[in-house]
Amino acid sequence: MIPQSFIQDLLGRVDIVDVIERHVPLKKKGANYFACCPFHGEKSASFSVSPTKQFYHCFGCGAHGSAIGFLMEYSGLGYVEAIQELARQIGVEVPQEIRHGHRDTAPASRSLTELLGTAARFYREQLKNAPRAIDYLKRRGLTGQVAARYGIGYAPEGWQALEKIVPRYDDPALLEAGLVIENDQGRRYDRFRDRIMFPILDARGNIIGFGGRVIDQGEPKYMNSPETPVFEKGRELYGLFQARQAIRTENAAIVVEGYMDVVALAQHGVNNAVATLGTATTATHVQKLFRLVDRVVFCFDGDAAGRKAAWRALESALEALTDAKQIAFLFLPEQHDPDSFVREAGADAFREAAASATPLTAFLLDHLSAEQDLGTAEGRAAFAHTARPLVTRVGAPMLRLQLVKAVAQRCSLGEAELMQAWGMASPPPQGGRKTAAPPQRAPRRPPSPLETTLLRIVVRHPAWAARLPVDLIPEASDAGRALIAIIDAISVGDLGNDTTLGTLMEHFRDTPHQATLNRFCVEEAEEVIADEVVETLFLDTIHKLHAQTLQEQIEALAARAASLSPEERKRYAQLIRQRQGNPGGHPKVSDS
Ligand code: UTP
Ligand code: MN
Repeated sequence: MIPQSFIQDLLGRVDIVDVIERHVPLKKKGANYFACCPFHGEKSASFSVSPTKQFYHCFGCGAHGSAIGFLMEYSGLGYVEAIQELARQIGVEVPQEIRHGHRDTAPASRSLTELLGTAARFYREQLKNAPRAIDYLKRRGLTGQVAARYGIGYAPEGWQALEKIVPRYDDPALLEAGLVIENDQGRRYDRFRDRIMFPILDARGNIIGFGGRVIDQGEPKYMNSPETPVFEKGRELYGLFQARQAIRTENAAIVVEGYMDVVALAQHGVNNAVATLGTATTATHVQKLFRLVDRVVFCFDGDAAGRKAAWRALESALEALTDAKQIAFLFLPEQHDPDSFVREAGADAFREAAASATPLTAFLLDHLSAEQDLGTAEGRAAFAHTARPLVTRVGAPMLRLQLVKAVAQRCSLGEAELMQAWGMASPPPQGGRKTAAPPQRAPRRPPSPLETTLLRIVVRHPAWAARLPVDLIPEASDAGRALIAIIDAISVGDLGNDTTLGTLMEHFRDTPHQATLNRFCVEEAEEVIADEVVETLFLDTIHKLHAQTLQEQIEALAARAASLSPEERKRYAQLIRQRQGNPGGHPKVSDS
């Protein structure tokens, strides 16, 4: 037995583009990659690979699948072998029960991280003979112990100091690792010169890049490694390797903006801080941390730029949220960054501030309502309008409901009214199908296109399944049953918010839903619902689903009009009123 969680995790860490690229040269076109299909003879490129869906699909022969599926089809590997191969490619341990132990060649990226590791050792050595650098670190309050923990080093002056660490300075790997820069004449020189060096580690402790700070004043203040095959800024967090244990034991992670912030916090005993790498926080960053902890606190500088960064972090966190996780924002006093704050106020004050940081919902609501005058109808309308795209992106059902409540309250609307205006599914009137629906559901009806549309959208955006009203999805069709199975898998946590089409398909391999999903993902690949309409279509379809359910309930009661109990008659009248408030099931979905 292979643990599903291991497979999901594995698929979350490999990139199907890399996997296929090893065998088939791919060309980027727009968001996807293309090649001549390796599974049937052809001259034009109709084989496409989508990095966002983690899925490949051939428009010519219909072949499709995840990274696992590709290795099975292309290399003729068995299911277990394909999983082993993927695990080997990214260098992770395969759980004992599925390993037959053989073949262990070094991953292609190994040589780059080895080279970067050699450079890091060199920089660390150099620090010992660099009194200016040591003095600078001391002035910033760092002890040798913390400097060692973070592997801080010094890149010496001179243009080609790295000559000493490699047999040949013209080795292409130096360039690929981002350690040297080549000018127009093809002359090379070290990227980092006369800088304090902060090595950046991946989760396994490999060195994948550097940040280099000038000593005292100078421009640019920080210089970072470029993105390389082993370093992608939107995925990595500085200090995560060192912080892992503290993050786990405290069940909280603190995200700051700067290398020095992380190191200074550690110097004061706050060991659970990590930093983004000179880029905005991404959903991947948040997902990565949520695999380890339930609470993430963003602590950015107290200036306008810091607030802007916090808002951007909020935007990328919305989709990664689940009901069991918390995000909070710690706004430091103006003029302060985490480094200066912890130095001035101490670790306890910092910890207290982090513990009582502003919850995401409060930040979201305050930020949006601060832009509007909620004393006027226009202001309240504008507030609801700007809140809608943010709230609908929240995947966590309970949290989304809380947000709806809070927004409704602030703009003096009923929850149901607001949800209707937003084209969102409102909760069934009396708590679920079992109690609210009349005893007989409409016996049979022609297959509805609603669940078909929804499933097509869900194979495109699997995480959106969490937003569907599971009670209303008809079980009569294959599509309906597949949708319900997906919603269930998400609600019990078998599938995460980061589910791609690839992980979705692997989750349902060898289940009754596999064939349905296969059909739908091919349909969606061949006749793509336009990006601009997919959200509106989704909300619209949910709305129609509500209208349809209502209509069925009314019809079921009407069919027995003569024999209704007083209770049922009341319910009938109520349903009719509800339908009048919702004629035809075509909401006006405002643009967002
Ligand atoms: P800050 O300028 O806030 O740095 O930039 P800091 O951590 O407070 O630095 P010190 O205290 O002056 O040493 C925050 C982060 O933005 C990126 C770096 O990742 C830095 O840690 N940055 C900043 C750059 O990449 N380049 C720059 O020139 C400046
Ligand atoms: Mn600083």
